[in-house]
Amino acid sequence: MRAIMDRPLTILGLETSCDETAAAVVRGRPGAPGEILSSVVWSQIRDHSPYGGVVPEIAARAHLVTLDEVIARALAESGCRLGDLDAIAATAGPGLIGGVMVGLMAGKGLSVASGKPLLAVNHLAGHALSARLVEQCDFPYLLLLVSGGHCQLLRVNGPTSYRLLGTTIDDAVGEAFDKVAILLGLGFPGGPAIERAAKTGNPRRFAFPRPLLDRPSCHFSFSGLKTAVRYQADAMDTLSDDDVADLAASFQAAVVDILKDRTARALRDSGAAGERLVVAGGVAANRAIREALADLASEAGARLIVPPPTLCTDNGAMIAWAGLERFASGESDPLDTPARARWPLVAE
Ligand code: KG4
Ligand code: ZN
Repeated sequence: MRAIMDRPLTILGLETSCDETAAAVVRGRPGAPGEILSSVVWSQIRDHSPYGGVVPEIAARAHLVTLDEVIARALAESGCRLGDLDAIAATAGPGLIGGVMVGLMAGKGLSVASGKPLLAVNHLAGHALSARLVEQCDFPYLLLLVSGGHCQLLRVNGPTSYRLLGTTIDDAVGEAFDKVAILLGLGFPGGPAIERAAKTGNPRRFAFPRPLLDRPSCHFSFSGLKTAVRYQADAMDTLSDDDVADLAASFQAAVVDILKDRTARALRDSGAAGERLVVAGGVAANRAIREALADLASEAGARLIVPPPTLCTDNGAMIAWAGLERFASGESDPLDTPARARWPLVAE
């Protein structure tokens, strides 16, 4: 396996666990940033927006219809043929099971057809390791993973070695953004819509709760905050554009405070990992959150690493990279590896 490590590896990554159909070709070796040769992301937002959220059956069907073309484009744009690849990586969970099955089966098919090894990648590991694709970021580091399905603080010791420091006891943070956006009539997906509305709003007009703040743990809670926004919105008969902007800004300010407080505690508790703080997942695309964490990192003397927004939301490059990190140490997965709806990085 040493021989594999001695040259850059070229990996195709497939991502189909939620509402993006994505494929990418990445080249590199662990320990140094890699090169994204191509990254194609086909968003299903238009398919789901009439329903105010991702509809699993529609997602699975849309992945099935578009994945072949997305893969073909990713290969063409990278200038690689199947034979030039070292391995095929595909998300094997966690996520919406129909979509995960579509991507994993496609990965298995390509693996059989090309004779290249398969890597069944944990989607959360994809987010967790994405920082190492774009920057020099040695293990261990502290990871704040903030997405539509997760809100966790983890100490990352290696590509498959994680320690959970804190997690949400109810909603994921992206889920809170999405639900609040719907109740404010801002549509789906909620994160970017709330961020846009908040720009012109007054973050101090409404004093929303910051659950679990100052508790001696790194856990999160967002459902009380979401309910408080609902009560406030219900109490105001009709919402003007200014009201919506103020509600969005006040909600976002509460989320920022919660994330900052919990992450500050984890930085203090996580030893050497506190020297590097990585933020990943779709919610890390939020500028207010990025700025607050940048302040926190500079106060704590830590280096903040946030992948660019296109690598924070779901994409194939992070899956290719997570596969590459494991493949470089000699790992691959059997063709009977199952698709999983649930697959925590560490037992919760
Ligand atoms: O990581 P991701 O693309 O998919 C999951 O694995 O969940 O994250 C999607 C989540 C959604 O809840 C979306 O509303 C949120 O990330 N999001 C944002 C922003 N962009 C996406 N949340 C806040 N601000 C944003 N700019
Ligand atoms: Zn994700």
